[in-house]
Formats: sequence, C-alpha cells, structure tokens
Amino acid sequence: MIMHSSVWPSHRPARVSIIGAGKVGSTLAQRIVEKNIADVVLLDVVPGLAEGIALDLMQARGIERCDRAFLVRSAYRCVFGTNNYADTAESNVVVITAGSPRKPGMSRDDLLQVNATIVVEAAKNAIAHSPDAILLVVTNPLDVMTYLAWQASGLPPQRVVGMAGGLDSARFQAFIAMELGVPTVDVSAMVLGSHGDLMVPLPRYCTVSGIPITELMDNETIERLVERTRNAGSEIVQLLQTGGAYFAPAATTCLMVESILFNQSRFMPASAYLQGEYGLKDIFIGVPCRLGSSGVESVLELNLTETERAALHASAQSVLKNIQRANEIMSESQSTTRLLLALWKLGAHKSTDVKRVDLTEKIKRTGEKASDYQGIFDKLEQEGAIAFEIKNRNRVILLTEKGVQMLRELLNTDEF
Ligand code: LAC
Repeated sequence: MIMHSSVWPSHRPARVSIIGAGKVGSTLAQRIVEKNIADVVLLDVVPGLAEGIALDLMQARGIERCDRAFLVRSAYRCVFGTNNYADTAESNVVVITAGSPRKPGMSRDDLLQVNATIVVEAAKNAIAHSPDAILLVVTNPLDVMTYLAWQASGLPPQRVVGMAGGLDSARFQAFIAMELGVPTVDVSAMVLGSHGDLMVPLPRYCTVSGIPITELMDNETIERLVERTRNAGSEIVQLLQTGGAYFAPAATTCLMVESILFNQSRFMPASAYLQGEYGLKDIFIGVPCRLGSSGVESVLELNLTETERAALHASAQSVLKNIQRANEIMSESQSTTRLLLALWKLGAHKSTDVKRVDLTEKIKRTGEKASDYQGIFDKLEQEGAIAFEIKNRNRVILLTEKGVQMLRELLNTDEF
C-alpha cells in the first residue's frame, strides 16, 4: 500500500484513478497534474510502466510549478503509479483507458474482442475499491465498452459515462476553424451518435460566434468537413502508424473530469445511458448531457430532423449489435474461466483429468427433458464428482472418474 500517512495528507484532496498508462492515460495524467486539480493514481498491468511514468511526472511538478495554485486548492498533490487496484481506493473519478489501440486499416469495432475483457475486469476491480466513484470510459469501441463497464460495475447508469462526443465535436470545431481561418475558441460544434464510422455531426447546431455555419459555408464544404470529422481518428492512426490520437482524447477527458470534480454541470455531448430519449433504450450513445459531481445529471433531447434522427438510429443499431456480440464474447470467456475453476476444484490439473460428457443426444433420443437430469447432477455434485454443466443448453458436463462410474450406474448405461 502506498497511502501511508507520510505520503497522503490526512485531509485528502480529490483523487482520480486512471486505468491504463498508455498514451491517452499518461497524457491525461500529465494534464491533471499540471492543472493541479487532483491526486492521480495511474495503474497499468505492465510492471513498472505506471510507476515509471508517475515518477517522471512527479519530478516535473517543481519545474512546471504545478503547486502554484495551492492557495486556492491544496498545497500538496501526488501522482502515483501502481499495478495494484487497492491503491486506487476511494477515487472520486475512475477513468478507463486500458485496452488495445487501433492499427492502420482497423475500425474501432475491430477492437471489440480484445478490449471487452480488459474493460470489464478494469471496471469490476476499480469500482470494488471506489464504489462512490464516477466511471469515465475512454477505451474503444467506446459506446459498447461504456455499456460493458456499466454492467460490470453495477453502478447506476448515471454514474457511468463515455468520452467521445466531446472529442468528435472538438475535431469538427477544429476543421471548421481551419477552413474559415477563425480562432477555434469562436467555433462551437456538435456531434452525436456512436464514436464510430456512423457518428452524426450536426452542422445545424454548429456556429461561429453564434452564426450558424450553414450561413458561412456551402453544403459541399460542410459535407467535406463532416466526412473528415467522421474519419478524424483513422486519419491520425494512418499518419502515426502505431496507435491513435491522444492529445485531443486526453484533453476532452480532462474537461469531463473537471466538470465532475468541480460540479460544473458542463454541457457537452458524451456517451450516456438512454431510457427512451430519442426513441432509444438500454444503450450508451453520444447525446448532449450535463456532467456534474453525480455524473450525467441530465440528457437534452434535441429537436432532430427526420434525416438526423434516422442517422442517430442507424448509429444506435450498430452499437446495439456490438453490445450483443460483446455479451456473447464475454459469456464464452466466462465459461472458459468457469471451466478452469471447476477443474481446479475437482483437483484436476489438466482437462484430460476429467471426462467431458455430452448428454444432449441421449436426452433428445429418449425424449426426456434436460430438467429430468437435475436430480442426477445434484447427486453427482454432492459426491464432488461433477464440475458443472459447462454449456447448459447442450447438457455438457465435466465428470471425474468416479462421476463417470456414478453416472453409468444411475442411468444404467455404458454409453459414456
Ligand atoms: C480517436 C480514438 C480515441 O478517435 O477513438 O482518436
């Protein structure tokens, strides 16, 4: 444990834990440290990585004069690196950036399989130590990962939010500013929908000092900027060749962290849980919302045109499809974990130490019901001879040698 009294002050300032010390995670840590707004715990599974980055950042504090704001905030702030979730305890905000980034040619959805387990584990472990935190998800494919993290965390949906709409809007904002040669600060842009190829930039809601861009640019130019916004992440992946963007993603995440920590109720698009808004249910997707210390305080329902609404729904369909795919992937990987656990419980070290018995055919052939076997399973279980049904629907079970004998006797058959 690193939080002994000589390190952590007894009056503890806000704490932000960042899970994943890759480019986005470490750049976010740097922003928070330089702004001096919270203690940071940076966690990574790679030994030494988070510790190294945290030490480096801690040593830059004096040079950067990060403590200069101590009169209005707190005199002493720390940044720690660790690979132990216990060190993230009592965080006000947990940010999940862990996972694989894209390679050139990949869509965000291609990361589904590899990142699903990582995000679920991260959410479970982090929230177990910080049950009162707001959970902010950054890992791609963003909207699906936010949904999985929410499920795994057991938190109320309002306390979970995904970072994307703010980033996509910032990109649209930058492209509009570059096109018109105006300061980015004068431009305001709005992008809804999933953080993917089907995101929904809304030119009608984009302005330069209050003037709608539809009065400043022709349709063709706007369409070109919309397309560039949709591909903005891939454009950077293609240029960097190794990994994706991190300055703008970290800057957007930092803005969200600040809005939560200081209860600013900033109004921005983010991936939030919908319960009927925009005609969508049980989904996380980018919509305008207010972000404060309780998480997503409210979702604003814009008056969308038919075309905009259809685009949002198409975007939502792809998220829903991927949520289903992710759940399938998760249940497969859960049954593998359960299988290993069962083997271990049976004292078997290899899968060859137990016999895999498939009762599906027998049940079908004899016209029995799978439930007829429950009594038999219970008996086998009492004798410690059965692992469990690894695939309930197919009635596939794992038996020790003793279990196979018992089953043969109980069913009066040599079939197995
Ligand atoms: C991007 C990643 C963060 O859009 O999704 O650059």
